[in-house]
Amino acid sequence: MPNKPELQEDVSAEHQWVCSRLESVRSKGLWRGLRRFDDGQIYTEAGGRQVINFSGNDYLGLRHNPALLAACADAVNESGVGSGASRLLSGTKRQHLECEAELEEWSASPALVLGSGYLANLALLSTFADRSSVILLDRLAHASLLDGAQLSRAKMMRFQHNDVNSLEDMLRKVRESDSAKRVLVVTESIFSMDGDIAPLRDMSELCARYGAQLVVDEAHAVGVFGDKGTGLCSEMGISELVPYRTATFSKSLASYGGFVLARREACDLLVNSARQFIYDTALPPHIVSTAAYAVRMLADSPELGSTLLEKSAFFRNALHSAGVPAGGDAHIVPLILGSSETALKFADALLSRGVLAVAIRPPTVPEGTARVRFSLSLTHSEQQLRDAVQVVREVVEHTGIQPLERP
Ligand SMILES: Cc1ncc(COP(=O)(O)O)c(C=O)c1O
Repeated sequence: MPNKPELQEDVSAEHQWVCSRLESVRSKGLWRGLRRFDDGQIYTEAGGRQVINFSGNDYLGLRHNPALLAACADAVNESGVGSGASRLLSGTKRQHLECEAELEEWSASPALVLGSGYLANLALLSTFADRSSVILLDRLAHASLLDGAQLSRAKMMRFQHNDVNSLEDMLRKVRESDSAKRVLVVTESIFSMDGDIAPLRDMSELCARYGAQLVVDEAHAVGVFGDKGTGLCSEMGISELVPYRTATFSKSLASYGGFVLARREACDLLVNSARQFIYDTALPPHIVSTAAYAVRMLADSPELGSTLLEKSAFFRNALHSAGVPAGGDAHIVPLILGSSETALKFADALLSRGVLAVAIRPPTVPEGTARVRFSLSLTHSEQQLRDAVQVVREVVEHTGIQPLERP
């Protein structure tokens, strides 16, 4: 008889390995725990208290919009709770095609819907770059873009954040060594953690000059910038110069899912080769139907984005007037605090005074730039913005922590 394996010992060794990994996370001040936030439309409940939520991405406040809720309820009753299959099996329903048609009409570009913004970025970069390509990626680009670049196996280089000189240096070097290499330049239009705007026009000119393809993630710009909320490329009038754009339904558009805007043939190539499209169950029809309804709402209410930007300018100016250096150029307003411990302390002090602005720490942001990030929404009233500024002021005074100037 073979010896009985010592199961208990193996399990406990495994458990110790897990615990030691967790301990290492904890010892760096990087522990992340799930906290419960049950929300109404404006306030969020944190630990039994109502706090003003500045840590959501529901920029246009559509998540509880009655017309959108009704559209979602009708759609779920009609189509059931799931799609039942991947898009290339039997998962493509009328709602997916209608949503893609809606996106095309809205953005004037063919569109392909994928499971999420994260998957859209993985799909795009792993389809349009390969081992023989080069990807030049902004140093602060979102994790999904970094993961997509890694998945593609292209040679990856990171240019300095929003720095066209750094990008041009890299493009020149790449072209000196190989004039025919396929090069993708990848950035966000509004940066998720810094809220600043990429110099997309200059980048698109550089791409044209050096024969590179520009990829722009518009996750945080859709709904806020551009004609009918179509994003920053459209606001800058350069959509035609950007062959690949990605975005998500999960922020301004209030539901879930992602999409790519690209030429029809590029969408066909994704359908034929992106593993994240082929091997992923199609989004539930009511979700894409709700997303399509939200896209129509953007088209019908083109003032939503500019109203949000006015609120954001009011908030940022009020912080500046209070002597608090606030970053960002749009509706994302970071206060850079330095170490993870400092950011956690600041966020806790805000929360205890009724303001939820979660601490953002490495590896989400670079070492030494932990921060609290305020995401503004149309649901925030002017009074709430004033109250939040007052709370920030109190926290600075009470803790002695002064937010840092923009790095
Ligand atoms: C810049 C950026 N791209 C992509 C994503 C991923 O989108 P999704 O949440 O739809 O997966 C996010 C955030 O979640 C993001 O901030």
